[in-house]
Amino acid sequence: MSQSASIPRPYTTAILASSLDGCLAHADAPGQRIASAYDFQHLEQQVAQVDAVLFGATTLRLGGTAMRLQSPHLIAEREHQGRSPQPLQIVCSARGELDLNLPFFRQPIPRALLTTEKGASRWQGATAFDYCWCAGGEEIDWPQAFAHLQASGVQTLAVLGGGQLFASLLQIAAIDELWLTLCPLLLGSAAPSLYPKESPFAGRLKLLNVLPVGNEVYLHYRLSYD
Ligand SMILES: NC(=O)c1ccc[n+]([C@@H]2O[C@H](COP(=O)([O-])OP(=O)(O)OC[C@H]3O[C@@H](n4cnc5c(N)ncnc54)[C@H](OP(=O)(O)O)[C@@H]3O)[C@@H](O)[C@H]2O)c1
Repeated sequence: MSQSASIPRPYTTAILASSLDGCLAHADAPGQRIASAYDFQHLEQQVAQVDAVLFGATTLRLGGTAMRLQSPHLIAEREHQGRSPQPLQIVCSARGELDLNLPFFRQPIPRALLTTEKGASRWQGATAFDYCWCAGGEEIDWPQAFAHLQASGVQTLAVLGGGQLFASLLQIAAIDELWLTLCPLLLGSAAPSLYPKESPFAGRLKLLNVLPVGNEVYLHYRLSYD
């Protein structure tokens, strides 16, 4: 499968759930999942396939935890393949302002922070992260960020949102596949958006599979940018 443009980077799959009006969460409960228990299993299966998971700082601040593998079967399968039991959990934060009291910092997972020089200065000498990757001065420099990931052996990456992170990766042609769970909800304009950008997405999405389960629909797309 061809990857986008010229930036060397991991093969990247985004896995998200949205309402029918393109929202990621309830406006008044922004940290809560909107999808079903089946979707949680689907997400866990996708996460079990990858070397690392990437998510935005707001998602972490509101949810408090990373999507850790819990299924003994999926963990055993990874170990059988000679992989680490848990994928590396990478939080992207330009500012680097994260509360050490979040349960995330007590989860038994490998952790990385992808940040800027400004953000990294907050974490000098800290041991909360296994890796602290600095990419860019005040904004994330993505080619530099991908170079850090690749140097650490991350060849496959799952992006779990939120919308700001997802949209910024779409805009630099850095998502190869999308799994989108459509949930039977209409959440309104105050809710966080799947694609909070003014400019439209310039790439194309080819539908690979559609699976209705209960009242949800699982859509699987391949993205291209030529
Ligand atoms: N339904 C789903 O599948 C799903 C999945 C994930 C999240 N969510 C929901 O989505 C909402 C959060 O989404 P969101 O769009 O508001 O935020 P987000 O993408 O989770 O996080 C935004 C923050 O992440 C950092 N960030 C993201 N992209 C960046 C970039 N290109 N460069 C530098 N830093 C970047 C910045 O952190 P700093 O401000 O620290 O610099 C930014 O403020 C929550 O309600 C969450 O529960 C839903």
